[in-house]
Amino acid sequence: MNKLKILSVFGTRPEAIKMAPLVKQLAALPEFESLCCLTGQHRQMLDSVMDIFDLKADFDLNIMQASQTLSSITSKTLLGMEAVIAAAKPDLILVHGDTSTTFAGALAAFYHKVPVGHVEAGLRTWDKYSPYPEEMNRCLVGRIAELHFCPTVNNLRNLEREAIPGAKFITGNTVIDAMKTTVRQDFCFSVPELNGLDFQHRRVIAVTCHRRENYGEPMREIMEAIRELALSHPEIEVVYPVHLSPTVRECAFGILQDIPRVHLIDPIDVENMHNLMARCYFVMTDSGGLQEEAPALGKPVLVLRRETERPEAVEAGTVKLAGVRKQDILTLAGELLTDEAAYNAMAHAVNPYGDGNACQRIAQAILWHFGRIGEKPADFGA
Ligand code: UD1
Ligand code: UDP
Repeated sequence: MNKLKILSVFGTRPEAIKMAPLVKQLAALPEFESLCCLTGQHRQMLDSVMDIFDLKADFDLNIMQASQTLSSITSKTLLGMEAVIAAAKPDLILVHGDTSTTFAGALAAFYHKVPVGHVEAGLRTWDKYSPYPEEMNRCLVGRIAELHFCPTVNNLRNLEREAIPGAKFITGNTVIDAMKTTVRQDFCFSVPELNGLDFQHRRVIAVTCHRRENYGEPMREIMEAIRELALSHPEIEVVYPVHLSPTVRECAFGILQDIPRVHLIDPIDVENMHNLMARCYFVMTDSGGLQEEAPALGKPVLVLRRETERPEAVEAGTVKLAGVRKQDILTLAGELLTDEAAYNAMAHAVNPYGDGNACQRIAQAILWHFGRIGEKPADFGA
């Protein structure tokens, strides 16, 4: 029987981290031919992930521009995918999550009548401008896709609520699969600023912040909250790998440069990042990925957003929505630093997002969909 040709399309750092174990899983199975197309929506931050997971791209659209617009990402991807789909002739295109690459990749597949599998399907806030443009991207991809790989049962219910057609599976999130190889007890940081930190005696807070809906006043308030926290708590060290977006860098460096105990560093590779989280005291972030990773490592998370599409860890008690107002962020961060009971209530490892076998389930689900095996894989959590 012919191998199933699967083309995985991704372009940003988080998509690459979460697709890497799946691309590898498919490549390891004799039933598949696994091809990989990068849009290059991100460049340095994407290449770093490809290097860590030792992945090679079969196609690279290389679309990134400084301060790019949503229209530029979408239109360049859509046009670039024409030649890729014509050359690869895939049986299935896989896209991940909710970026502009995800949306344009799925739309390109639809225009060429290639079925789409959506990895990390069914996350919703029900507010089309928050996160922006991600909520609309994932809704639109949900309409296009034939196969929906939902991390959790809650995500599956969201798709049912929208009466989304197609086959749905609860697989767990592939990021938990990725963490099986990145997090190591004996890991040595390759970033000098991290090697110099005393994780045992200092309270290290890991920070990231990059979302478009936080650009402007919300991001300024977040940075001001971090500044006040560092100035008022001599026992802490803030480690903040700053996203390469010029808008984010201008805001972060403008407010936090030269503040004592605030370490503004360039983005770090995913191994350094996961091990930083594993050793830190708590996490403050507006990132989606960190909300899934930190709970698995037993680290409290303050989410620097007004809402989240990842309510599972909030319900489990390890994540709190801090919002984007300076005073609210300071109150919750101060509580974690001064109230041991409040800290302990949040600092327990939970795995609502996966058991590390999501990629295996997705591969089995694809085989089942194409009639290559008789049994649908058991759901994560079943
Ligand atoms: C994108 C995704 C967002 C995701 C985030 C992960 C969209 C609309 N947004 O947002 O959902 O959470 O990635 O980080 O798809 N840059 C570089 N080098 C890089 C990466 C970015 O220089 O390796 C700079 C460029 O100037 C680029 C800018 O950052 O124009 C913004 O990148 P972009 O992909 O447009 O938006 P993100 O905020 O990264
Ligand atoms: N990450 C990383 N280096 C960094 C910051 C984050 O490797 O300097 C990882 C992080 O562990 C997570 C992913 O990047 O796996 C999250 O990406 P990002 O926050 O850019 O996007 P989001 O998840 O919000 O879409």
